[in-house]
Amino acid sequence: MASHLRLAIKKSASPLARSAVQARFASSAAKQPTLKERLAELIPPTLERVKAVRAEHGKKSFGPVIVDQLYGGMRGLPALIWEGSVLDPDEGIRFRGKTIPEIQAALPKAPGGSEPLPEGLFWLLVTGEIPTAEQVAGLSAEWAARAAIPEFVEELIDRCPPTLHPMSQFSLAVTALNHDSAFAKAYAQGINKKEYWGPTFEDSMDLIAKLPTIAGRIYRNVYGKGKLPAIDLQKDYSHNLANLLGFGENHAFVELMRLYLTIHSDHEGGNVSAHTGKLVGSALSDPFISYSAALNGLAGPLHGLANQEVLVWLTKMQAKIGTDATDEAVKEYVWATLKGGQVVPGYGHAVLRKTDPRYIAQREFALKHLPDDKLFKLVAQVYKLVPDILLEAGKAKNPWPNVDAHSGVLLTHYGLDQMGYYTVLFGVSRAFGVTAQLIWDRALGAPLERPKSYSTEAIDKMFKNKN
Ligand SMILES: CC(C)(COP(=O)(O)OP(=O)(O)OC[C@H]1O[C@@H](n2cnc3c(N)ncnc32)[C@H](O)[C@@H]1OP(=O)(O)O)[C@@H](O)C(=O)NCCC(=O)NCCS
Repeated sequence: MASHLRLAIKKSASPLARSAVQARFASSAAKQPTLKERLAELIPPTLERVKAVRAEHGKKSFGPVIVDQLYGGMRGLPALIWEGSVLDPDEGIRFRGKTIPEIQAALPKAPGGSEPLPEGLFWLLVTGEIPTAEQVAGLSAEWAARAAIPEFVEELIDRCPPTLHPMSQFSLAVTALNHDSAFAKAYAQGINKKEYWGPTFEDSMDLIAKLPTIAGRIYRNVYGKGKLPAIDLQKDYSHNLANLLGFGENHAFVELMRLYLTIHSDHEGGNVSAHTGKLVGSALSDPFISYSAALNGLAGPLHGLANQEVLVWLTKMQAKIGTDATDEAVKEYVWATLKGGQVVPGYGHAVLRKTDPRYIAQREFALKHLPDDKLFKLVAQVYKLVPDILLEAGKAKNPWPNVDAHSGVLLTHYGLDQMGYYTVLFGVSRAFGVTAQLIWDRALGAPLERPKSYSTEAIDKMFKNKN
């Protein structure tokens, strides 16, 4: 039995809770492999497959690289291996080949729930396989058992002034978790590189398990919501996160968390947070410090902070033109944003060229659970009007909404209306995708990332010399 589960069972206050954890673990371990056991089985054939792909295609070209790509944020430049998901500009994300509606149908659900459990999505990202309900329950139990954070990290969070942005607090606390990194310790003790993936897996499991505890503590400190409740060892990850935030009794909010954590988890490898995590991890930085770097990228307004920006923008709009504004008034407000030299937050994308299926999944959730919410109606009105305006403005390559255009309105509906906090929830979820890849990077022996850079002078000279 995993040491974390043994510890959890020992620490469980009541005999009832103890036997519940024991029973859950026994049922998942007796018949079916755990995630780590399955991963260990998958690594040797995957290494062979990568070898074969490289032997067959290693010298083939993806086509020319043009100078504009160097100046243009490397759009479209094939540069990274990312196993968990691939993003198609028109169709949107596929997690290990599966679309969002497909994973919504295929992944195990909580008893009484209809949204997929993000535990299952993590299993899928790591293995490429849909787990059984028992395997997912085993992951829920294991994450609950690993959720506690060291006392000094609690103190670190408690000492942050409430004026420090929640994302800065989040990144600070995640960095500090590296104090107990299994990978850093094993590396210092001279672990064989073939074994790197094992402690990387352990750190990744710890990181994911501890994020709700950190996120909950930050929320309660910054917004004065009192003490954190204990983790419930019998509940799933999303339920525990919702409960730490004070919404554990609200079934619809718990369901929202399950959907939210599932769809925000991964968006292939080139986005700022995913790429940062991989890049920093390529220096053999452990998963904690790799992921805190990723969080700092997520905290930028063109990336994860856009979900905060959308709500700020919508509420300013409501304050200016009222809650039941006409289409004309909304259009005027959008044009004023553009003419002020600002972006319309939640619209556009570096890769997507259609409405983000993550937006659609959230819209469907809203239509089911909060069809009459005034802010949702505004979000829907904006969806009807903004694409044409962006097309008319003629700059954005993609006039359609992305994931961030919709998440805030759902959270606000249930009373989580502290917009400055929204990106933290995105950060809890994105750890799934980043760590799944970090584990594979260590298993496949991915090298240090070190692309070539050029100065403008060097480019100028290079092509002048050729002409
Ligand atoms: C996501 C984003 C950063 C992608 O950037 P990109 O790949 O450079 O996008 P494009 O190639 O379409 O940009 C071309 C131009 O259109 C502008 N543009 C893109 N999206 C825009 C938007 N939502 N509102 C206004 N202008 C936009 C860009 O700022 C750029 O202007 P510039 O030529 O003056 O620099 C961009 O669409 C954006 O800023 N969106 C708003 C923020 C957001 O929602 N971020 C979350 C993304 S998941």
